Amino acid sequence: MKLQINNATSFLASGTIEQYKPQVRAAQQALEEGTCAGNDFLGWLHLPSSITPEFIDEINRTANILRQECDAIVVAGIGGSYLGAKAVISALDDNFTWLKPSDSPRILFAGNNISEDYITELIDYLRGVRFGIINISKSGTTTETAITFRLLKKLCEDQRGKQTAQKVIVAVTDAHRGAARQCADKEGYKTFVIPDNVGGRFSVLTPVGLLPIACAGYDIAQLVKGAADMEHQCDINQQFAENPAAIYAATRNALYAEGKKIEILVNYQPKLHFMSEWWKQLYGESEGKNHKGIFPASVDFSTDLHSMGQWIQDGERTIFETVISVDKANSSLTVPADSENLDGLNFLAGKHIDEVNHKAEQGTRLAHIDGGVPNLQITIPCLDAYNIGQLIYFFEKACGISGLVLGVNPFNQPGVEDYKRNMFALLRKPGYEKESEEIMKRIGE
Ligand code: PA5
Repeated sequence: MKLQINNATSFLASGTIEQYKPQVRAAQQALEEGTCAGNDFLGWLHLPSSITPEFIDEINRTANILRQECDAIVVAGIGGSYLGAKAVISALDDNFTWLKPSDSPRILFAGNNISEDYITELIDYLRGVRFGIINISKSGTTTETAITFRLLKKLCEDQRGKQTAQKVIVAVTDAHRGAARQCADKEGYKTFVIPDNVGGRFSVLTPVGLLPIACAGYDIAQLVKGAADMEHQCDINQQFAENPAAIYAATRNALYAEGKKIEILVNYQPKLHFMSEWWKQLYGESEGKNHKGIFPASVDFSTDLHSMGQWIQDGERTIFETVISVDKANSSLTVPADSENLDGLNFLAGKHIDEVNHKAEQGTRLAHIDGGVPNLQITIPCLDAYNIGQLIYFFEKACGISGLVLGVNPFNQPGVEDYKRNMFALLRKPGYEKESEEIMKRIGE
């Protein structure tokens, strides 16, 4: 993985990024020494290098049981208990996996919405299908996930019997607390623990992400190796200029201070759409506090060049772009020659589609630079488990540093509780009587 900051320096006074060096160093030190805000949640920091081959084997063993016993596996979880697995599986999956016959079970995601239609349609699909469930919730009490799990557990038991259900339902949750833990212990499900000191959005390299990814048939050992190598590359002992996490954290803080309030993560590969969703949670939930923080947005190019492209080229100049560039396609396909050339495309005949994509990327970069958009670029050689592992750790480490440089606690999410309180009050959840009374008055009921 390579980070380039392209034209970003031209928006900053000379030497600005270097000036962040002491703050970045202090943030790295605070992370290492566990003296920063949110220091209860630093379990991700040296997680990749601490994962043992035995632990990978244990996850793969459970995944293999699910793969043998199930034609579909529903991963129930939301936020940090959803997006990491979804991002990695999407990045590695065939784009058309849905339409192709496969020996691998279908990996479906649920528990991340409360849509009656979504859940009904999922249940309709699962009727008669040999399916299993991975129920992921650190707190074990998240409403969206719990409602879905209640319905799916019943369906699974009704269809496959209690005994088989016990074999094909796995819980990933807290070691001791929460309804998901209680249920798993009572039913005798296989469980994996989400460590106390790893927050949801930093948990993709725990069983939260590793188990679903292994169930999808991907090489979690390579994913972890990529992350561990990046852990080394972003280590506190690396020179500032050689440490991509340090440079990224410094550059985005410098741009933010210059009024660049929105960062757009750009990809040119549809498979990376959910990496952007994962990244948005990571940075949005970590930095959006105390009325500050870069707003993390994302686009999928070329698709969005034909929609949001106008805004990016010519709208308010409060944005910067970070482009994830993939050097080489995994497939090989060229534009064919056509004797009639009615579409005028013969000038591309013999060229790889990937070459055309790269020219679109290069052309867009230059146009956006001309349009006054600072441009950062992260290049990975190809989409595979190793390189996705690298990206994950790079973004996590940079996020920790960046949030501390910004002056917020990057590891809590107090703002997420507000909607839950209102929802519980509106639903008259036991224990919320006082809030219910207040909110009913407020809405005039
Ligand atoms: O990052 C976070 O902490 C959140 O996104 C949580 O992961 C999300 O709310 C799900 O919580 P839980 O795993 O407790 O069900």
